[in-house]
Amino acid sequence: MTTPLPLKTVTVGLLGCGTVGQDVLTLLQRRRDIFADIGVRVVVAGVLVRDTARARNVPEGTPLTTDPSFLQECGVVIEVMGGTTRPLSLLHPYLKSGRPVITANKALLAECWNDLRDYALAGKLYYEASVMAGTPVIGPMSTVLRASRFESLQAVLNGTCNYILTQMEGGKEYEQALAEAQQLGYAEDPPTLDVGGFDTAHKLAVLARFCADGDFPYSAVQVQGIEGVTLSMVQEAAQAGEKYKLIAELKREGAGWKATVSPQRLPANHPICTVGAGRNVLIFQGDECGELFFAGGGAGGMITASAIVGDLLDLMIGFPGHVPLH
Ligand SMILES: NC(=O)c1ccc[n+]([C@@H]2O[C@H](COP(=O)([O-])OP(=O)(O)OC[C@H]3O[C@@H](n4cnc5c(N)ncnc54)[C@H](OP(=O)(O)O)[C@@H]3O)[C@@H](O)[C@H]2O)c1
Repeated sequence: MTTPLPLKTVTVGLLGCGTVGQDVLTLLQRRRDIFADIGVRVVVAGVLVRDTARARNVPEGTPLTTDPSFLQECGVVIEVMGGTTRPLSLLHPYLKSGRPVITANKALLAECWNDLRDYALAGKLYYEASVMAGTPVIGPMSTVLRASRFESLQAVLNGTCNYILTQMEGGKEYEQALAEAQQLGYAEDPPTLDVGGFDTAHKLAVLARFCADGDFPYSAVQVQGIEGVTLSMVQEAAQAGEKYKLIAELKREGAGWKATVSPQRLPANHPICTVGAGRNVLIFQGDECGELFFAGGGAGGMITASAIVGDLLDLMIGFPGHVPLH
């Protein structure tokens, strides 16, 4: 009988312990055996929050704190706090010291790319969870799909808008559907990031850097949200056998690229409406690989945690982070 090798301890720091952070902690515990199989024992050195007294569903002994100094002793940082300024100020010195970061924060990636690009190019940034949560699109787009000449992509990337538009198909006014989405915790208050199309635009900018231009600026995405879509417009579309979807689209235009987010009418039997019903969906068109469909859950604590813990496994195995075009 062989004696198991001693496990290497990897210290992880977690920034944020809300919907996603709590489930990351749970999943790290659940997958202990998988980490042990690759010779790793994950130890959480600190979990940064605003309010340590808040009730949370976390493993006993979780080191919650409002003091980020634990970052200094961490081998890896997982950022799931949201926002841009605060996470960037916490992560920047840490990245500068050459250590890796895993993040689900598409706003940070989209809006602070100038500060992050070099670390992404060095393979130090892992961010599968930032687009379509646990449905893997960034992995394939940053690796195997590069062999194919990218033509276009079309996607539904925001579950809140999808929910609201689906409720409107059932006869609800926009305001009522939005209020319900907020009550169910699907939409933020204020809901502008979702319904204004900006969350979708953040995600489209992140994707564009793998298939169009590694420096694709967030400001180049033309954004229109769903606030202007009325019940009568949805009903008129239904009479014509069509549905409204908030579509993220990236395609060639002249010598460059056109990235748009806008409400569009699609035939009800279009794959975005059928394969993508109630889910996030992305259709990737490449010259050699042809048309590919990705569909699945695009939000939720555990779905998102699955991509984050998957990124951590990749890092432990020795795979680089998600490197944009360069
Ligand atoms: N939720 C999803 O389904 C989903 C899916 C994909 C990606 N994401 C991304 O994942 C990130 C986290 O989302 P979430 O839904 O988990 O957010 P959340 O529930 O609002 O949790 C945010 C956490 O960060 C902490 N926090 C926020 N600002 C802080 C500050 N200035 N200092 C210290 N702690 C701070 C909060 O502390 P307190 O608890 O003390 O307030 C909270 O624990 C976001 O970037 C989001 O875009 C989320």
